[in-house]
Amino acid sequence: MIERLNKAVEYIKSKTDRSPQIATVLGSGLGIYVDKLDDKIEIPYSEIPGFHQTTVAGHEGKLVFGKTDGIDVLVMQGRYHVYEGHDLGEVVFPIRVMGLLGVKNIILTNASGGINNSYNPGDLVIIEDQINMTGKNPLLGINIEELGPRFPDMTQIFNKDLISKIEKAYKALDIKIQKGNYMGVLGPSYETPAEIKMLRTLGGDLVGMSTVHEAISANHMGLNVAGISCVTNMAAGMRDEKLSHEDVKEVAKIAMNNFANLLNLSIKEISKS
Ligand code: HPA
Repeated sequence: MIERLNKAVEYIKSKTDRSPQIATVLGSGLGIYVDKLDDKIEIPYSEIPGFHQTTVAGHEGKLVFGKTDGIDVLVMQGRYHVYEGHDLGEVVFPIRVMGLLGVKNIILTNASGGINNSYNPGDLVIIEDQINMTGKNPLLGINIEELGPRFPDMTQIFNKDLISKIEKAYKALDIKIQKGNYMGVLGPSYETPAEIKMLRTLGGDLVGMSTVHEAISANHMGLNVAGISCVTNMAAGMRDEKLSHEDVKEVAKIAMNNFANLLNLSIKEISKS
């Protein structure tokens, strides 16, 4: 695995000598954020050894080096999900590559269903902690010592210092600060109302089909991780309506402007340190 990772790193380094400290992974419908970046170098996943194509509408499949206010940033425009049939080692492969490229801070973003009754579609919620409900862990198997320890600590899986910097961005933009626990499920079917009741009882505020494995493997490598979730719908059974990926993308699109400003300002705050 480490040889495969190094091959991808070498290929990317042959395309650019930029070395951003901050990266972000864009969730469903949030990919158009890259339009806001300057001075872009775009590398399709299909070109990078070891990367796969994304198969989900709303997930582009490009690694983008860009700048915002002169700050270097690395963006994954689209991600892989376990439900696409990928092994976990493949799902977290790009995260590991970004770590090996020298990224120190990573902001994971996603679209999610709101479980917490106080949320509304369009809300941008800071992920405070997560519960991995997938029954799978990306660190299963022989530990890759070059990346991190066998039994990594996860007490601050979402870094408090990054969260407080992101909160500054919320305040500056006058966006209501909301925080919650993200429940990571496998999908691809949406949850049943009974499952949502269970997830709420277990302490969940948000539910989605990504992020948890990326957060674990980024922590394994010692990266500082933050998460911002765009609530695209209230979770199953909470409203008298069916869930659809079209609605998810539509709400993400509407929230996009706020989201892009928030991401840019958060990156600025993080780069101050
Ligand atoms: N459930 C799981 N994943 C999701 C949802 C949801 O309701 N909305 C967006 N991603």
